Amino acid sequence: TPRTSPRADEGRCPFRDAASHAPDTAPNGCPVSPQAASFDPFESDYQLDPAEALRWSRDQEPVFYSPRLGYWVVSRYADVKAIFRDNRTFSPSIALEKITPTTQAAQDTLQRYGYAMNRTLVNEDEPAHMERRRALMKSFELEELAHHEPMVRRLTREYLDRLVDKGEADLVDEMLWEIPLTVALHFLGVPEEDMDTLREYSIAHTVNTWGRPSPDEQVAVAEAVGKFWQYAGQVLEKMRQDPAGHGWMKYAIRRQQELPEVVTDSYLHSMMMAGIVAAHETTAHATANMLRLLLENRAVWEDLCANPSLIPNAVEECLRLSGSVAAWRRIATTDTQVGDVAIPQGAKLLIVSASANHDGRHFENPDELDIYRDNTTDHLTFGYGSHQCMGKNLARLEMRIFLEEFTRRLPHMTLVPDQTFTFVPNTSFRGPEHLWVRWDPARNPERRDNSLREQGRDFPLGAPSRRDAEREAVVTRVIHETPDVIRLVLEDPRGRPLPRWTPGAHIDLVVGDITRKYSLCGDPDDEQRLEIAIRREEPGRGGSRLIHDTVKPQTRVRLRGPRNHFRLDETADGYLLIAGGIGITPIIAMADRLKRLGKRYAIHYAGRSRGSMPLLERLKRDHGDRLCLYPADEGRRLDLPAVVGGRGEARVYACGPARLLDALAALTRDDADAIHVEHFSASHAILDPRREQAFEVELSDSELTVPVAADQTVLQALRAVGVDVPSDCEEGLCGTCEVAVMAGEVDHRDKVLSADERAASRRMMTCCSRAKRGKLVLGL
Ligand code: FES
Repeated sequence: TPRTSPRADEGRCPFRDAASHAPDTAPNGCPVSPQAASFDPFESDYQLDPAEALRWSRDQEPVFYSPRLGYWVVSRYADVKAIFRDNRTFSPSIALEKITPTTQAAQDTLQRYGYAMNRTLVNEDEPAHMERRRALMKSFELEELAHHEPMVRRLTREYLDRLVDKGEADLVDEMLWEIPLTVALHFLGVPEEDMDTLREYSIAHTVNTWGRPSPDEQVAVAEAVGKFWQYAGQVLEKMRQDPAGHGWMKYAIRRQQELPEVVTDSYLHSMMMAGIVAAHETTAHATANMLRLLLENRAVWEDLCANPSLIPNAVEECLRLSGSVAAWRRIATTDTQVGDVAIPQGAKLLIVSASANHDGRHFENPDELDIYRDNTTDHLTFGYGSHQCMGKNLARLEMRIFLEEFTRRLPHMTLVPDQTFTFVPNTSFRGPEHLWVRWDPARNPERRDNSLREQGRDFPLGAPSRRDAEREAVVTRVIHETPDVIRLVLEDPRGRPLPRWTPGAHIDLVVGDITRKYSLCGDPDDEQRLEIAIRREEPGRGGSRLIHDTVKPQTRVRLRGPRNHFRLDETADGYLLIAGGIGITPIIAMADRLKRLGKRYAIHYAGRSRGSMPLLERLKRDHGDRLCLYPADEGRRLDLPAVVGGRGEARVYACGPARLLDALAALTRDDADAIHVEHFSASHAILDPRREQAFEVELSDSELTVPVAADQTVLQALRAVGVDVPSDCEEGLCGTCEVAVMAGEVDHRDKVLSADERAASRRMMTCCSRAKRGKLVLGL
């Protein structure tokens, strides 16, 4: 297999020796491996599970030539994303080309209908593509999408009403196809009639473009596609008579009057037809995939029923693990390289996002459904860059409402056992044709409480925030460390494993309406329990008091994380660990780790009195010879200048009250990179619109310019136009919202970057940092 191309490796192809056994040769001169030779995306393996069918490729041959398809297949996350990002070298112009050439008879049929599908948003090259995309984007912004939410909710309820007492249903046939179709029609502004005909047409369109119909089927498919084309034209004409009002197509018709050379007639007709398919079929398939996956993972389904706040993250994780868009196509406009494989000009590529989404190089435990996963929104199911799916937030909106209604009204629903799932054979779109579920209507919760039907929970539009993924936990022990510090031991209520963590990590503890961050101080490898210690802050905001007063053994709490913004760099030789009071919690976990690694370290621990210093006994037991204690009531004061001044090459890790950290910062101004401190609040990150300036950010991958108002963060401005950037703390503490900066001067306000990193200005935290002046260019 050509992992190293002849050109990339000075003529030495590692598979050349095997060439005599290889029946095929790739266009770059390399022999084709047996797996590549036998790869067929129309076979059931790929249809059933494209990620699994390409596991061998991700592991051994991430870019290979498929002679059966005549395409290069790309299966790893980094390569797929790089191709999405560079839409000039990898043109999308073949994205809608028929993968199986049309027979003459089918062509004649299409011609009879005047079929003239032209460029649409998905297969158009620059600069025309972005010009049109910008012209037509408004309808996809979050504010505009919010108008559709009540309609989606109403439709979902009505369809569920029809089947809630039946006890068994094929969800695809009875609901999942028609609701997204109706939503798509509303979104486009199309009349609702002819739904059945449209359904038939849009299936035909999929087979026509991405499938492998037999010559006889081709004529039948062409008939349906031709009618679909005509119908789209008629509806468009109707809309032209009255282009006022809601709907993307009506908006596009109005924009045509302002920008006739950008929004052309042929473009409108093509988008009309493509829009119906894009907006409805992908969502229908994605929802069916999602429900199937969740019902196959009962424990996760039950978590969602018990805690609907997890739904946005669960939707995203299902899109990652079993999305409806499996692959896209591109054509190389020049001789180039993907990974280390030479790709000649004119080569066609099948970039398999379904496989990329299972790449363990990017996602931990990639084959596991983990609705608490913190980078699940990095999935490529919506594509990436300037061709990223414009309708992604409409799809998210629908999928969240579906899931919210099902988990609330039919939590006892199960899959009908032993059903065989079938898929419309095609390379790119994936979802079961039927999804049979059953339940006992006598157990429907709304029979006991009729108000349940009307309840419902709205989620903010757009990508989920990491804040949304909360895990339930039970407090199994409360240990009084000192008169005002308790240590809590937390476990999963059903005894399931909890995530591992690294020293310096914290969790967000959610008790009632309050959320507070606490560092973990137990054993990072213990999957059964997490430990935190909490000081009662009498003058504080009330969170610690509430926890002290109300949390007892068996109290249920929620938690987010663990996340680590205070990572221990394990490469140094020596370490100076400094803690004040409750700040000992991350420090003790670091000390444990350093001891295990056999590193040189010293702990300097200050407090009011020995009796007020938590974890003291354990420290003395495990780290007694490395421990210097400074109880103030014994007259022992931590002499910070002396301790820090004598650190030599040691790295400093400190956590404690603000005055301790400020004093440390003042002492180490010249060597900020060797000092790591844990902050739990970021005073600079709070936005005060009266003191801010508006500015612009230009997105180099998406080719957009986004205004950032004085009362907006960059993160908010990006999300408002549908650009997903993950976030967690939104206070400049965690580094989650980091993006690359290509040009411009950044006013850094985070606590994440070091002084050198700030000076270099190659990255910024979008939740708090801004432009110093002028425009910023970001790598998004
Ligand atoms: Fe945490 Fe921005 S979200 S630094």
